[in-house]
Amino acid sequence: MNKIGKIYCAILAGGSGTRLNSPVPKQFLKINDVPILIRSIKAMFADSRIEELWVGANGDWYDLAESQIKEYIGGDKRLHICRGGIDREGTLTNILDSIRNANDIGDDDIILIHDAVRPFATKRIINDVINEMQYCDVCNTVIPVNDTIIRSDDKKTVSGMPDRSVLFAGQSPQGFRINTLIKAFASLDAETRKKLTETTKVCFVQDIPIHIVTGEFFNFKITTPYDLQLAESVLKYKEISGIE
Ligand code: CTP
Repeated sequence: MNKIGKIYCAILAGGSGTRLNSPVPKQFLKINDVPILIRSIKAMFADSRIEELWVGANGDWYDLAESQIKEYIGGDKRLHICRGGIDREGTLTNILDSIRNANDIGDDDIILIHDAVRPFATKRIINDVINEMQYCDVCNTVIPVNDTIIRSDDKKTVSGMPDRSVLFAGQSPQGFRINTLIKAFASLDAETRKKLTETTKVCFVQDIPIHIVTGEFFNFKITTPYDLQLAESVLKYKEISGIE
């Protein structure tokens, strides 16, 4: 069993949300009057063990990120903001650099990495990830896939139908022992690193065991205009069923 030291959180808010086709990046849009970014931050702060939370905000929208945080959260010593990067991993790298500049990182310290556009992470999921980090260096949140997955190499005909019972879809938060993640990043050349768009994959390709915990179907990533409608229904569902 590994000890857990200080718990950090990284909220990745550096994206531009092209698929949603909105003039303002989706993390700043409101669902029932509260910005998605703020909902995601509050969802993570629901676990009081998170001592320091960093938002990596899209540089073109940095002022908006700051003003939304000020308006909806106010001053909170645990909350910090830095500029995002060119892609998701770039934003994460900026956050990790900021954390390292401000702290001495110990081997027991962990970070929960969460997409700013997943406003429905629950207390239960966050708790499960933190607990699982006692037994591993990397932990991903996943859900089983409900649909049959079809593989098509030529995008015209079916080339495979993998066994659904062993397939899962990745979500966030994802937990990492910070020093493991930094080492994993450092041991990849820039080319390989660029190709690995998924943070846990950076560890997977280096044979670092990755544990999984179960997420929720409603902990989805807001991606398309349709998802905004769905998000309003999820809010109602969570309210009715008392899920925190
Ligand atoms: N992200 C980030 N920095 C980037 C790109 C993405 O922090 N340079 C974050 C997004 O803000 C989001 C998460 O990574 O919280 C998942 O991003 P995704 O929705 O896949 O990408 P977006 O750029 O936001 O949207 P799109 O792909 O539609 O342009």
